[in-house]
Amino acid sequence: MMKLRLFLKKRNRPKFLPTPALLMDRIMDLANLRKNEIFCDLGSGDGRMLVAAASRGAYAVGIEIDKGLIKKAKEAVWNHRENIDLILGDILYNPLIHVDVVYTFLDENTMRSLRRYFRGILKKGARIISLTYKIPGLKPTTILSAYDERQLSLLRPLLGDIVEQLKVYRIYIYGKR
Ligand SMILES: C[S@@+](CC[C@H](N)C(=O)[O-])C[C@H]1O[C@@H](n2cnc3c(N)ncnc32)[C@H](O)[C@@H]1O
Repeated sequence: MMKLRLFLKKRNRPKFLPTPALLMDRIMDLANLRKNEIFCDLGSGDGRMLVAAASRGAYAVGIEIDKGLIKKAKEAVWNHRENIDLILGDILYNPLIHVDVVYTFLDENTMRSLRRYFRGILKKGARIISLTYKIPGLKPTTILSAYDERQLSLLRPLLGDIVEQLKVYRIYIYGKR
């Protein structure tokens, strides 16, 4: 029974899909990080968002459940290792409390499971930026189209009509500084 539960949990977990390179700067602009603020990527994948945050002067922490991705991220963050921490673990059990900006690119179920955590950290004055999924039951401060018109027109010659599908992606921001 225990094994079955673990299996189901693993199977339902959001898979690794990196934040598109084209969106990284935009998300970092929205994060509007101050020097030494703490940025946390819940499910940090290959560490790209951590490097982007550390490049803007933040201290970045990534929590990731996949050992292989942690290994990959260790290499990716090497030049910023003084300002980046990587934690191998499950965000459902180890979310961080003392953070200024939380970034998520997860799925609906995980966002639902983390609802209480999100409420708690918003009370402490943090901002949350979520690519694609809302936090159920919480009203975003701002909702934006993930891709702006300039980005869509850059992608149009490469992707053709598929670009229209990108219009549904949103960035949800909760809290403000
Ligand atoms: C869609 S990817 C986003 C990766 C990265 N945040 C980015 O934006 O490039 C989601 C990541 O969350 C990780 N993940 C999913 N469930 C997790 C959990 N319960 N605890 C920790 N990491 C998890 C996956 O392994 C995957 O790397």
